[in-house]
Amino acid sequence: MAGIALKKIQKSYGALQVIHDIDIEIESGEFLVLVGPSGCGKSTLLRMIAGLEEISGGELDIEGRVVNLLPPAERNIAMVFQDYALYPHMSVRENMSFGLKMRGGDQRDIENRVNQAADILKIQDYLDRRPAQLSGGQRQRVAMGRAIVREPSAFLFDEPLSNLDAALRVEMRLEIAKLHRRMKATTVYVTHDQVEAMTLADRIVVMNGGVVEQIGRPLELYHKPASLFVARFIGSPTMNTVPAELSTEGKTILALGRTIELGAAEVARSASKNVVLGIRPEDLTQCPADEAWFSGELMVAERLGSQTYGYLEVGHSKMLSVEFPRNREVNVGEILHVRGDPARVHLFDPSSGKRMGSGC
Ligand SMILES: Nc1ncnc2c1ncn2[C@@H]1O[C@H](COP(=O)(O)OP(=O)(O)OP(=O)(O)O)[C@@H](O)[C@H]1O
Ligand SMILES: [Mg+2]
Repeated sequence: MAGIALKKIQKSYGALQVIHDIDIEIESGEFLVLVGPSGCGKSTLLRMIAGLEEISGGELDIEGRVVNLLPPAERNIAMVFQDYALYPHMSVRENMSFGLKMRGGDQRDIENRVNQAADILKIQDYLDRRPAQLSGGQRQRVAMGRAIVREPSAFLFDEPLSNLDAALRVEMRLEIAKLHRRMKATTVYVTHDQVEAMTLADRIVVMNGGVVEQIGRPLELYHKPASLFVARFIGSPTMNTVPAELSTEGKTILALGRTIELGAAEVARSASKNVVLGIRPEDLTQCPADEAWFSGELMVAERLGSQTYGYLEVGHSKMLSVEFPRNREVNVGEILHVRGDPARVHLFDPSSGKRMGSGC
């Protein structure tokens, strides 16, 4: 299976550059997920790998071969789109076999491949139906089947589950995870859904405005975000961030009028006194008033069953999210006091947005 290397990849539409010098090495068999806000260039990057979009600068290698100028059909890569792009007038079987037939494959071999893929995806019973006679999830399986029969060296997915309802998304996510375990195909997967990203990825690439903010394993990004952007993008509810001032010796921090002892956990040797303090909702715990880092009125409680999230108004119209133990009863309107674990505090430079110090 293919390893894919992006070396200083650029894309411009006329004078507008939308992808800036992207470097990513995708290992053979790896499941790489691209995430980032709308318009950051995820689809453009994927389409350049597929050969559907011209590469303006840099080099794209697949299995050690430069493929910048190769047409899509010669890259041996299959792409699955959000809108499935099935032929409405063809049956499922015809949709899955069409590409192979066009390339003049052997009839018996094509049939075998279609049946095998149908087996893997559990769509044997629908092979003679047309796309309009299928549910969204079944159509998505057909679109994946059409990719599988080609036995490509890599799969590219562009938000393949975003047209499905929540329950079906969870089911198809598991299917894709199982499929990847079974086939071990190099996969590049674009999604908006961070749960999808966190659960499917070997590594995640967080993109922002056509550049890579950070590449890492899911929990690496969660526990050690390289920037405020990544800190806020990965994790739900999002990480709390509060403007703060570091003491000159770097041992304490002043945030929202309280002094917080950082101890030895996080000492940033920063020229600037101003920092942004970040702390995740699960790293804040209730405490007596005199030990509190933050105090405020509980404005909203989200009771999800397995956990409860509370939103505290802590002054200056700042809201903090706090995760409570599952059996803790909380009442909207009560004043709560919380503190964090100094070892789990993140500090960021407010001007560059970059992480400061070693962090947790
Ligand atoms: N054909 C085009 N001509 C000019 N600009 C384009 C073209 N296609 C895309 N763009 C611009 O390139 C940028 C990246 O678009 P892209 O579709 O890759 O974003 P995306 O990350 O996939 O977003 P989304 O999450 O909304 O799908 C956007 O600013 C978009 O407006
Ligand atoms: Mg897109």
